[in-house]
Amino acid sequence: MKFFVDTAEIDAIKELHALGMVDGVTTNPSLIAKSGRDILEVTKEICDLVDGPVSAEVVALDADTMLAEGRKLAKIADNIAVKVPLTWAGLQTCKTLSEEGTMVNVTLCFSANQALLAAKAGATFISPFIGRLDDINIDGLELIEDIRTIYDNYGFETQILAASIRSANHMSDCAKIGADVATAPPNVIKGMANHVLTDKGLAGFMADVEKAGIKIL
Ligand code: G3P
Repeated sequence: MKFFVDTAEIDAIKELHALGMVDGVTTNPSLIAKSGRDILEVTKEICDLVDGPVSAEVVALDADTMLAEGRKLAKIADNIAVKVPLTWAGLQTCKTLSEEGTMVNVTLCFSANQALLAAKAGATFISPFIGRLDDINIDGLELIEDIRTIYDNYGFETQILAASIRSANHMSDCAKIGADVATAPPNVIKGMANHVLTDKGLAGFMADVEKAGIKIL
């Protein structure tokens, strides 16, 4: 499973990138607003850092303006994936941009039917939001499973990009189901390293290091 980082914070991307943990980056208008940076400028900086796909989201609601925005975003770098919402206008934009050879990430997906439409419209990525489904007591992971089954049934090449990931468990659960990509905030990715038994075991080793005066350097 590929790891995308769901952030527009350059330092956080750099830290994970140095460990080979960044196969791509996803942003959205809320993350851009949080960064306080200009969308074109910060997106370009991310594209220069990372080789994999960098999702940048359109902000218009109608297809014509979305298309113009998508074309402008696509010019930032070769690794841009234009992110469009899963609306009818978004699907129209997806179809055109995909035919032009631009990667498209269709976002705000909450149902298998929506995912089926995105694949038919030629999306490179479909982004089902599992955390936001969990928030309203609908099993987000079940949606990933359903989309996996549907895409595999028909050989759709659209990649399942599990989004709205809130915990380390979501990451391993998505990997078990066979999501192609999971995008998560930096703290969730770093949190995957944590285990209470690791902490406990290390504390025991350190106590013995102290007791025996073990030194390596
Ligand atoms: O990039 C979209 C998505 O990952 C948002 O997550 O936590 O705001 O639902 P969240």
